[in-house]
Amino acid sequence: MRLDKFISLMKERGFEGALISPGTNLYYLTGLQIHEAGERLTVLVVSADGDYRLLAPSLYENVMRNLPAIFWRDGENPYEKLAWILAEFELSSGKLLVENTMRADWLINILRIGNRGFEFHPLSSVIRELRMRKDAKEITHMKHSAKVVDRVFEELLSWDLLGMRESELALKIELRIRELSDGISFEPIVASGENAANPHHAPGKRRLRKGDLVILDYGAKWKGYYSDITRTIALGKPNEKLVEIYEVVKDAQEKAYRTVRAGVKAKEVDAAAREVISAAGYGEYFTHRTGHGLGLDVHEEPYIGPDGEVILENGMTFTIEPGIYLPGLGGARIEDDVAVIDGRGKRLTRAERELVIL
Ligand code: CO
Ligand code: CO
Repeated sequence: MRLDKFISLMKERGFEGALISPGTNLYYLTGLQIHEAGERLTVLVVSADGDYRLLAPSLYENVMRNLPAIFWRDGENPYEKLAWILAEFELSSGKLLVENTMRADWLINILRIGNRGFEFHPLSSVIRELRMRKDAKEITHMKHSAKVVDRVFEELLSWDLLGMRESELALKIELRIRELSDGISFEPIVASGENAANPHHAPGKRRLRKGDLVILDYGAKWKGYYSDITRTIALGKPNEKLVEIYEVVKDAQEKAYRTVRAGVKAKEVDAAAREVISAAGYGEYFTHRTGHGLGLDVHEEPYIGPDGEVILENGMTFTIEPGIYLPGLGGARIEDDVAVIDGRGKRLTRAERELVIL
């Protein structure tokens, strides 16, 4: 069980315990998915001795039967109950892991329940080692998620794109992803013409027109696991400069992909993409890292950037997404999801990468 694995790793690293609030880490460790905990304290207390207990609001009493739990009712002080659990687990000092995304008001109240000698550390510092290495089942979910976005790309090429507003196209993409999967990984990006010079452009009222390069960046979710794809298409023949940057980005993406193998550092993959773009004279217009880990979160470790010291291993999954952005003119980005399998990189997203001119 993942929780047991986590507990032994935590112990090995000298941690006394962990406080895990709802989110993808809690889901990863226990399968428990909690929507809208809101302000009501919900936390899994884990001790390095192997004990764990969920503290949750009583409104969840009927849905949480597979974990040892203590419930609190509205009107009660949940922090008193938390103090009680900590005492029971003999957690009073030492290194304690805390979920990175825990609400600040919870953490402040936890600090108040006693002047303990805890030294807090982010949960990610330990759990990353488990989360980064996906097992076969996780990769299967990611493959499915990737298939959905490939299919949406193939379909959208036959939609009547000319004259469509960016926001309308984004909505249509979202709808189709929702029909085919468990949901979207983020609101789709549709950036056309000069808007494509902004890597995270929010789709707006601009209508797609002839000569545009259009960046489409979107993702699906399957059994909790995300995909994240970017394709750049042309409506009619774009100007030569735009075709040129597209080809450079495509080469950079391919070079980076071919660099992926077990034993290589993440930053070497980043450097491969960066070298191609710099050699073509566009280095200063590639304004972000080459990619990011992908899984239960859209952005997770390992990050594929100039400072990426993680050594790639089998089971790691991440994006490769170089881009070039020319202010006032437009931009191009190509993003695939890649898994390290049998020591080599394997693309999970496989949609057409040659420039599609509609
Ligand atoms: Co993306
Ligand atoms: Co991405």
